[in-house]
Amino acid sequence: MAITKPYSVLQIGLKYIKYKWRAVNKHAVHSPRIFEFADKVLPSANKQKYKEAEKERKRLKKSKQVLDFVDYGKSGTIVVKAVSEIAKKSLKPPKYARLLGKIVDYYEATNVLELGASLGITTAYLAQNKSVAVTTLEGDSSVANIAQSVWNQLGHTNISCIIGPFEKTLDKAITQQYDIIYIDGNHKLEPTLRYFDQLQIAAHSGTIFIFDDIHYSKQMEQAWQQIKEDERVTSTIDLFFIGVVFIDPALSKEHLELRY
Ligand SMILES: C[S@@+](CC[C@H](N)C(=O)[O-])C[C@H]1O[C@@H](n2cnc3c(N)ncnc32)[C@H](O)[C@@H]1O
Repeated sequence: MAITKPYSVLQIGLKYIKYKWRAVNKHAVHSPRIFEFADKVLPSANKQKYKEAEKERKRLKKSKQVLDFVDYGKSGTIVVKAVSEIAKKSLKPPKYARLLGKIVDYYEATNVLELGASLGITTAYLAQNKSVAVTTLEGDSSVANIAQSVWNQLGHTNISCIIGPFEKTLDKAITQQYDIIYIDGNHKLEPTLRYFDQLQIAAHSGTIFIFDDIHYSKQMEQAWQQIKEDERVTSTIDLFFIGVVFIDPALSKEHLELRY
């Protein structure tokens, strides 16, 4: 049976050093589409564009509010959690949130799906361009309510949040197609692969899947390996803290660790 517990900080650190050592830059890329990603999407995005979202992150980090949080990604039971702790530990850092925003912009996505809204900060990056419609799923209603107040504050009317366990809400979300699908919740082997399977119906050949924390645990590394080997997958990019997956059959097969 696969081990569920996350790697320790030390283990992650060592893995990250190895990734930094192995990862290549754009000049080692063969596939023109992956080269384009390395050349045009990876270089850092405009920080100014997201400064209001970052003000919200800062505010949440200082919050004194405490929640009864239903931890769907782990035990599935109620735990007492400080909003400040969630804001500090559970959200994608600005560097990666900006990259996600840039992927949406560069590929001119019109429909985006996120699994795992939490406090809604990364959702705000995905929805920065007001012509993009973002659907986000979140299990816990107390964090989803805070996320909604963040989006209201930022003036995002282009985000719709479906509250409840993914096991119940995913069916509601996959009634349409998405250009970008970002999976950032329930970091375990079986659910990650099951969501990927279920989501195929909501994908077209140009859809880009992004998996969060692909080196978070042995199970997530197994999930990432199986996704790379999946016959529906053509190319993947391992950026260590996220993995990018292309399913376009027109692409040549290439699996790369790119420096980021
Ligand atoms: C890592 S946080 C998401 C962070 C967010 N994407 C960001 O970067 O700002 C993961 C979220 O997924 C939710 N989640 C995990 N497993 C879930 C499940 N099975 N059903 C519904 N929500 C789930 C958790 O409640 C948590 O808020």
